[in-house]
Amino acid sequence: MTVKEAIETRRSVRSYSSKPVEEALLREVLEAGRLAPSASNQQKWKFILVRDPEKLAALYEASERQQSVKEAPAAIVAVATASYDMSCGERTAPVDTSIAFSFMLLRAQELGLGTCWLGHFFPEQVRAALAIPEDVEIVAVTPIGYPAETPEARPRLPFDEVVSYEKY
Ligand SMILES: Cc1cc2nc3c(=O)[nH]c(=O)nc-3n(C[C@H](O)[C@H](O)[C@H](O)COP(=O)(O)O)c2cc1C
Repeated sequence: MTVKEAIETRRSVRSYSSKPVEEALLREVLEAGRLAPSASNQQKWKFILVRDPEKLAALYEASERQQSVKEAPAAIVAVATASYDMSCGERTAPVDTSIAFSFMLLRAQELGLGTCWLGHFFPEQVRAALAIPEDVEIVAVTPIGYPAETPEARPRLPFDEVVSYEKY
């Protein structure tokens, strides 16, 4: 699968088989995050793989009881361990960690695994469940597993609406 194909075929998967995901595949996904670029190559991130049923149940509660977290045999939680403001005004924590998360989601797609970026979760509940230190920012959560559905592509804005040339 090419990067283009992974980008074009990836979907948010919200229904999963309970079949466990092979360790080697999960490592491949996590490795894609590790290799992502970051501001000044600081790599101030950590990717927490969760497979323990009790912890997954806590993540389910923490993610506003989203069914996808209940069904999937694993989840990845991406956190930022430090942040600074770049001269552009953006904070490195959400930018860097989101890039790494995107890499992982695309690699998962290539490996036949489903994911769903979750931004709707109560961070303090996730922190408590996974013993994440107070000064660590929890950026994103995804269930990960073999898809039990084939979602339709969601609509995107037309090219000319989101792309401009030479000026805004
Ligand atoms: C930052 C972010 C937060 C999201 N949070 C959730 C979420 O909490 N629950 C959920 O089911 N989907 C969530 N999504 C998935 C989006 O709804 C989905 O990406 C969008 O509808 C496009 O669909 P697609 O991913 O299948 O292309 C989130 C996506 C992003 C990028």
